[in-house]
Amino acid sequence: MVQSTAEASPAKWHLAHTAWFFESFVLREFLSGYRLFNADFPWLFNSYYQSLAPFPEKRLRASFSRPGLDEILRYREHVDEAVERLLGRNPEPEALRRIELGVNHEEQHQELLLTDILHAFFTNPLRPVYLDKDAEAEGLTTRSKNRDIGRPLGFHQYEGGLREVGHKGEGFCYDNELPRHRVWLEPYALARRLVTCGEFAEFMADGGYRRPEFWLSAGWMAVQSNGWRAPLYWTSESGDWSVFTLRGELPLARLETTPVSQVSYFEADAYARWAGRRLATEFEWEAAAENSVQNSAEIQPGNLLDSGRLTPAPATELDQNQGIAQQVGDCWEWTASAYLGYPGYRPETGALGEYNGKFMSGQMVLRGGSCLTPATHIHSSYRNFFAPETRWQFSGIRLASG
Ligand SMILES: [Fe+2]
Repeated sequence: MVQSTAEASPAKWHLAHTAWFFESFVLREFLSGYRLFNADFPWLFNSYYQSLAPFPEKRLRASFSRPGLDEILRYREHVDEAVERLLGRNPEPEALRRIELGVNHEEQHQELLLTDILHAFFTNPLRPVYLDKDAEAEGLTTRSKNRDIGRPLGFHQYEGGLREVGHKGEGFCYDNELPRHRVWLEPYALARRLVTCGEFAEFMADGGYRRPEFWLSAGWMAVQSNGWRAPLYWTSESGDWSVFTLRGELPLARLETTPVSQVSYFEADAYARWAGRRLATEFEWEAAAENSVQNSAEIQPGNLLDSGRLTPAPATELDQNQGIAQQVGDCWEWTASAYLGYPGYRPETGALGEYNGKFMSGQMVLRGGSCLTPATHIHSSYRNFFAPETRWQFSGIRLASG
């Protein structure tokens, strides 16, 4: 039941809330005779749906010492059993659509569950290790400084022109990925891999966090007020930096070629300015992803949750030579795009309209999924979004130019 930051939620809450979603949006509306597991749960595990019921303050979720975990697990069984009963009754298409939404919602929480555990373990003075496996044996760290660091970062050129963005096809998408529409792109280039920890350390060594000329005004204020001097999980003792991961504490010296993560939009933007580049727009990113799908030589397998690595991995030489490495997985990529509705966007009707639409203010879009995103969850038009000062996600940096 640990909640180590107001942004995170306790593991127990994630388990209950994902069941609550099915109960609230599927069972109570579509399964006649559905019996609530507990009359308090409809408001207790509501996250932010104002039109459904009141809900407890988010930052106080860890104060729920009751219900205990056993009761939460029984709640999940109760809901699972009811969903199966509904599926056996040939439910109407809207019920099936809501179940699919509930599955995708739960996949989002699978990622958040691990993100929040990492934060909880980081703040625990004992620094527990979530996955006790040798990172080096899996090629996630390097013992000596890799020659790739000294090599100039390569860029892949795109023609631009009139392109279509937004979801197409039959598969699942959220309302914020629609409607598909045209955008105009000037010619641009994307870096062939993500910015590494080694490169980010060079930015720091060059006074990156002390030089306001690289920062947006709000970003510089965030640096000052939060005392930022490194990414969230970097700590230093006597000048040697370490990075806390789900595999425990790793020395920065062994992460030279590993993508940097847990940086805010402000840090990503400042790094890009320092490097003489910029961040891509979300449409440049998506057009590049659709290019990759059409040109099989450019498809890169992603380091997603299913790989079991639970941490970003260095890009291979081969991946970078073939096109854009790490476009899917490893780290969510901050884009330069504010999170807005597409032309003609209509939020869902009813309480589900609160899922995405009401957050279209003060947030930036991230693309591509991370090492904690389930493989079935991510696709090229998928739009993640967070406030620009957010750092506890696996959020990283891909440079763009042009
Ligand atoms: Fe949720």
